[in-house]
Amino acid sequence: MNTSIKNILQNNDFSKDDIIELLYANQSETKFLYQKAKEVKSGQIGDKVYLRGLIEFSNLCAKDCFYCGIGKSNKNVQRYSLSDREIIQAAQFAFDEHYGSIVLQSGEVKSREFENRVDRLLKQIRKITGNNFGITLSCGEQNESTYSRWFESGANRYLLRIETSNKELYNKIHPHDFLHIFEKRIESLRVIKKTGYQVGTGIMVGLPGQTISHIADDILFMKAIDIDMCGIGPYIEHKETPLFEQRNTLMPLNARFELTLKVLAIIRIMMKDINIAASTALQSIDKLGREKAIQIAANVFMPNITPQSYRKNYNLYDNKPCIAESPVECQSCTVARINLANGKVAFGEAGDAKHYLHR
Ligand code: 5AD
Ligand code: FES
Repeated sequence: MNTSIKNILQNNDFSKDDIIELLYANQSETKFLYQKAKEVKSGQIGDKVYLRGLIEFSNLCAKDCFYCGIGKSNKNVQRYSLSDREIIQAAQFAFDEHYGSIVLQSGEVKSREFENRVDRLLKQIRKITGNNFGITLSCGEQNESTYSRWFESGANRYLLRIETSNKELYNKIHPHDFLHIFEKRIESLRVIKKTGYQVGTGIMVGLPGQTISHIADDILFMKAIDIDMCGIGPYIEHKETPLFEQRNTLMPLNARFELTLKVLAIIRIMMKDINIAASTALQSIDKLGREKAIQIAANVFMPNITPQSYRKNYNLYDNKPCIAESPVECQSCTVARINLANGKVAFGEAGDAKHYLHR
């Protein structure tokens, strides 16, 4: 093995130069990176994999991110919002099946009506689940008062990916308007944390214009803001988005996939006790993508429990998995996948991030 990689891997904390070297590691060196991540994972986390039932409850979105298939300018998307009853039923399914937690995810809508609706839903879901159940929100940037209100009503985790921590790159992949402001997004993460949520963020790997140096900074950014949860996936082009024009500049899909796994491994070593999700996007490149992430670093799996008929309209990127499946199909698939990855499904456990409990 390259002595430099060997030396780097003797530590549990890496400088920017170390991270860059690890991200450039060749195939044989990468094995040692994965080995180390596996050791850290088994020592800190063990083989438990927590389930988060994912409810994509609405694809209405005021934003227009250049990478995302449900941005507001995409007129080919059939817009939907699940009824309260459908959302509650999905949450009930997750609770009855001992999933331990759910994620309520939607496009970004900022209105009094939306705030009230989510608030009402949270209260109803908490009545069903009691407190030993995780409720994560992934509903974009909101005002501080909204974050607080939702927290008071029972949400205890919030996911908001920074997407990239580099302002210049951020501005290249988002429109320049009052809704897509880099500083505002960082500020939201700070407010979410201050409110008391377990805070999750992440990036896309392989974005057009993204460099290894950017990704190293992203990892250091996540460490610096002291995240509890992390969701990272490869960028995958979507035909009906502005970034699709730049598809010829991208690294090949398999390289994006390998790079994502390396990023996850480095994060596991540097942020040993956080929850790391095996992102669905990994599976759209490699059929065993989520299993590989679990074997190396991830300890969270998000089975889709959105009613089947809506799923085709939540196409963030092309070839998104689980579109034709139902909640029950994803359930058996999930258990099989976790077993295949030598994980133990942590039924009935809310699975708070150890990092948060130690804060
Ligand atoms: N490729 C991969 N991930 C995407 N997301 C949105 N569009 C894409 C894409 N084209 C991710 C973003 C967002 C999350 C919900 O989905 O990171 O935060
Ligand atoms: Fe949905 Fe496998 S998890 S089909």
